[in-house]
Amino acid sequence: MPFYRAVGALPPKRHVQFRSPEGRLYREEEIGKEGFSSDFAILYHNNAPTDVVSIDTWELPDQESRPNNPLVPRLLYTHKLDQGGDAVLSRRLLAANSDLRVSYVVADRPSPLYRNVSGDELYFVESGQARVETVFGVLEVGALDFVVMPRAVIHRVVPVGEEPLRLLISEARGSVRTPRRYLSDQGQFLEHSPYNERDLRAPAEPFVVDEGGDVDVYVRHRHGGTRYTYANHPFDVVGWDGCLYPYAFDMAEFQPYTNRLHQPPTNFQAFEAPGFVVCAAVPHATEYHPDAVPVPGAHTNVDSDELLFWTEAAGGARSGHGINAGAITWHPGGFTHGPRAGELERAVAAYQPGVIEMRDMWAVMIDTFQPLEVGEAALACENGSYLSSWRGA
Ligand SMILES: [Fe+2]
Repeated sequence: MPFYRAVGALPPKRHVQFRSPEGRLYREEEIGKEGFSSDFAILYHNNAPTDVVSIDTWELPDQESRPNNPLVPRLLYTHKLDQGGDAVLSRRLLAANSDLRVSYVVADRPSPLYRNVSGDELYFVESGQARVETVFGVLEVGALDFVVMPRAVIHRVVPVGEEPLRLLISEARGSVRTPRRYLSDQGQFLEHSPYNERDLRAPAEPFVVDEGGDVDVYVRHRHGGTRYTYANHPFDVVGWDGCLYPYAFDMAEFQPYTNRLHQPPTNFQAFEAPGFVVCAAVPHATEYHPDAVPVPGAHTNVDSDELLFWTEAAGGARSGHGINAGAITWHPGGFTHGPRAGELERAVAAYQPGVIEMRDMWAVMIDTFQPLEVGEAALACENGSYLSSWRGA
């Protein structure tokens, strides 16, 4: 997606000789999508990015998943997964299909250098702070930030501060991008978009480190993991430009649509990717039709599994059903769900026509177009009594 940016030192044209002040040739690297017929970036390295010393196998964390059979809704408590570790080697699989893998990690130490060459990754910071160091530069991120990491971008996640870094990680099989309907033909964010260029933070200056040679990079690919050892550190880029780069977006900057009556999740959509979408459920004005029903009714999403990650406990009419901070409610495609026991009555009784209040919710929703399978971490943190929340509704 993103629009053109230029950072650091660049020659006046693409693919021309470009030298350091000492007269040494910089090494140009082009990172491009779709056979270089789509978005790309050109980076200028101090050293050749192709100098690989050795290649070894990297045994990934448990990637096994099993079908959601029998087809049941699930309530997961990700805070039960508080085992520490780093954002790459310690991530634990919650759910997966052929389009994405959703993992969770509580990171308390820097990750190794990492690149995912099978698809973009979308980090969501539930809490804590981090420096996301990349070949393009550094992103400082904190609670409620999304980080879009294009595939193949070498990076590492360094927690900073006292609080552990809690991450929900979506590994896509393709590009994570802005919904096309928010953009003009030329890629400018349109007026109706709930966020725009000014909300996106990208690396603002080059990031060059001196940490010696023989540097390991952990590579995620379609068939598993591989560890490359590079002769030189990949963080040696003096400049780059293009429309492909990592960026951060604070969910709190998402401007929600509001309406007199209930709005569908599409109005909260933040990203699209092959096989799934991501929505930002942020605080928004409640419905204000005189006869509004201020909770979503029963619904049957026939195509999509809905994974809703709650960064704060559900409040208001939805309180009291165990949806705590860090909970995930998982409603599989075709499973009819809606207000839990007592929610509808509480919401309608509390509704005051003519009074516009705020619905205070913070959650990230991932809607997939293929069924999700269950990962080991989901089984490790599941509340087995979720179904009962609808009894007597
Ligand atoms: Fe739903």
